[in-house]
Amino acid sequence: MEFDLTVHLNPAYRIRIARGTLQQVRIPEKQVVVIADSQIAPLYAPALIASLEQGGSSVYLLTIPAGEVAKTLAIHAQLLSQLAQLGLTRDSAVVALGGGATSDLAGYVAASYLRGIAFYVCPTTLLAMVDASVGGKTGVNLPEGKNLVGAFHQPKAVFMDTNTLESLPLRTFREGAAELFKHGLLANPQLCAAVLETGFNATHSNLEQTLASGVQVKIDIVERDPTEQNERAYLNFGHTLAHALEAITHHAVPHGEAVGYGMHYAALLGKNMGYTDLSPQTKAFLEYQRPMPLPELNWVSVRDFMARDKKADNAGVRFVLLEAIGKPKLERVPEAVLEQTWAGFLAFLAA
Ligand SMILES: NC(=O)c1ccc[n+]([C@@H]2O[C@H](COP(=O)([O-])OP(=O)(O)OC[C@H]3O[C@@H](n4cnc5c(N)ncnc54)[C@H](O)[C@@H]3O)[C@@H](O)[C@H]2O)c1
Ligand SMILES: [Zn+2]
Repeated sequence: MEFDLTVHLNPAYRIRIARGTLQQVRIPEKQVVVIADSQIAPLYAPALIASLEQGGSSVYLLTIPAGEVAKTLAIHAQLLSQLAQLGLTRDSAVVALGGGATSDLAGYVAASYLRGIAFYVCPTTLLAMVDASVGGKTGVNLPEGKNLVGAFHQPKAVFMDTNTLESLPLRTFREGAAELFKHGLLANPQLCAAVLETGFNATHSNLEQTLASGVQVKIDIVERDPTEQNERAYLNFGHTLAHALEAITHHAVPHGEAVGYGMHYAALLGKNMGYTDLSPQTKAFLEYQRPMPLPELNWVSVRDFMARDKKADNAGVRFVLLEAIGKPKLERVPEAVLEQTWAGFLAFLAA
């Protein structure tokens, strides 16, 4: 199945979801730089470059190291110099091919070169399709923290070729499924059910439909709040504990698995704050995801990390809670409830 979604911002842009769409990428810019990481370039750059060339573009391929290590100011500067040396002008384009690390970095290159040139994304991880490629957040990390430098720079179009997900390790696919499930909890219960279907993976017949529903949830939120003044913060559901788990374990717990755990903790918090009990749903997701077991964690360090989260202020830690499926809200949670819920969370892990 094929889906064409539209992000109604100024200017509007299209998101194409289809198998084989890398073979049909056509863009108007005549000079194009494809940025891909060293693992993705050999797999998918030839098809993308061939289709861009068929459309009449001259294409240069620049490769970067794979993974989060590429998101630095040093590599950003290197890429800018390469664009300048290639003589790229204001009417040229950058195309990101790869996961969220690649699109964040390449997007920031496109945002900053000549104060902004055209940017396109061809995401190849489920996480990048559901989350990173939509909404225009681009940037790199500093030694002091993740995503501390960046810009909002919307793509001109996004091409999601679901065939590329077949080379993704199943575990990485299920990490991305956490963000899909999160979008379901925020706005669309049918999406939650679709993710929990037996055999939900890169070859599932419902993949494109499910992906399209998940992307649509993000589009709706981004359209209402493009620069994260308010509602876009709901996308952080499950992320307050997740960021703490990632930091404390030095990323031994990968992001999507940390989000799986974080959503369950947030669901238990919601229940303890008197809202609908969504923990059966988040538990079912963890059964689907099968994340790595958590190491022993000390409550005080977990609490301190959560308090450092950007949603914390003097009066306590603000959490995205769900009053019910589709009814997120941002609320300060008293420390006693956080701790009591942590005990419940640990009991769940031990069961
Ligand atoms: N801009 C945003 O709104 C936003 C939202 C969420 C996450 N992010 C960012 O996204 C990044 C995480 O994204 P990610 O999980 O896609 O990570 P990633 O880009 O680091 O990719 C993970 C690994 O998978 C490999 N890979 C990618 N596609 C593959 C494929 N089809 N087959 C086999 N291997 C493949 C990559 O080479 C890499 O080694 C983080 O930097 C995060 O900050 C940004
Ligand atoms: Zn996330």
